[in-house]
Amino acid sequence: LENPIPTISQPHTQKVLEQAAQLLRDGQVVGMPTETVYGLASNALDSVAAQRIFKAKNRPQDNPLIVHVSSLKMLRSILKDNQIPEVYSNLIRQYWPGPLTLLFPRSSLIPNEITCGQLTVAVRFPSHPITRALISTCDRPLAAPSANSSGKPSPTLASHVMDDLEGKIPMVIDGGQCSFGIESTVVDGLRVPPAILRPGGVTYEQIRQVHGMEDVQVYKKHFTDIAMEQAPTTPGMKYRHYSPEAEVVLVEYIKSGSVSGSEATSLSSNSPSSTSNRQYDLIMKEIEKLKQQGQKRFGILRTSFTQSPTSSSLDSGDHRTRSNENSNGGNALDGSLDHDVIEFPLGQGSKPEDVARELFRGLRYLDDQKVDCIFVEGISEEDEGLAVMNRLRKAASRNISLEARDFL
Ligand code: TXA
Ligand code: MG
Repeated sequence: LENPIPTISQPHTQKVLEQAAQLLRDGQVVGMPTETVYGLASNALDSVAAQRIFKAKNRPQDNPLIVHVSSLKMLRSILKDNQIPEVYSNLIRQYWPGPLTLLFPRSSLIPNEITCGQLTVAVRFPSHPITRALISTCDRPLAAPSANSSGKPSPTLASHVMDDLEGKIPMVIDGGQCSFGIESTVVDGLRVPPAILRPGGVTYEQIRQVHGMEDVQVYKKHFTDIAMEQAPTTPGMKYRHYSPEAEVVLVEYIKSGSVSGSEATSLSSNSPSSTSNRQYDLIMKEIEKLKQQGQKRFGILRTSFTQSPTSSSLDSGDHRTRSNENSNGGNALDGSLDHDVIEFPLGQGSKPEDVARELFRGLRYLDDQKVDCIFVEGISEEDEGLAVMNRLRKAASRNISLEARDFL
């Protein structure tokens, strides 16, 4: 952690990194891969460069940026009194470099444009070799939000960054698909007890295991970014997040006896397969209704395949299109199906890390297919499922749910 400059062996990659670093030193912004999602980077010590990020993304001026470092020395250089608070030592030892962002008392080196008036600065030490090499080559901490247009799903491929920002930024480094696919976990250890402000790549279950973090708070029931909720200068629920053009409908399972949607979860991780069929049937019924209202094309992000893997993968392995001609029988609609239903498999709900990796790609894929409405089969909120459901609640304009007694 003190001096971990990864070796980039390919001369071509090194050349690209030099180019990107030069742009960054000149105050430009660059799209870069990280292990979570693609980031839009600028020199974190340059206030004018930071403004370019806000402009390119059309980001609200009151939403602070995360600063990325490639060594603890670099971290200390931007902290108040150059001190790393003791409360973070175990978290840092166990989860850095990685998808974990921590809040620190800021030094005046970090411009206001980045922290948006907060007294703290959010810092992450990414594990992606390209990100780390870029920070090291540039020899400056890099401010970087996700590299999407504000409000859109975060990018997990370089092409997603191009789709949103082409013409607005000079360069994107292509590092392939992001391995986590969902943003970092944001932890505020400065408050007592510590709190997870945004669930992400490092799970609540993992953080709770860290010595000193046993009491960490997580807002499972309300799915709000408490940082944003409690600090009026950060946007929170004011803004829609992760939203494609199409309406997003989240399909959940509600435990019998719970009064509100707050207990919602899905059965996909621990249920007989018949319940996933019920989830799917509910979507099909809902599609019928929307069809009568004039909607034509529908997408489903699936987490509960009951089909064999071979029948669930077509050409690119991405999706299946259901219609009269190629409906696969069992779940067919009423025979007079004249619209398309495009399915995109996110992975099994019992493997939330797979769902997390594919989630934003799936939302973007279905949006490109110009569907009117995207249904998502919700998953259990354990492990990475908590971050997945947090993002889905922000993307969804409504929920439909099944109650446990429907299955009895
Ligand atoms: O994985 C990630 O964190 C990605 C990659 C690029 O590193 N970045 C990312 O940045 O997701 P962004 O800007 O999309 O999300 C940053 C989150 C926002 O919810 C913001 O409000 C919060 O971090 N944040 C930043 N600084 C903060 C601060 N000082 N106090 C509270 N929340 C803060
Ligand atoms: Mg973002």
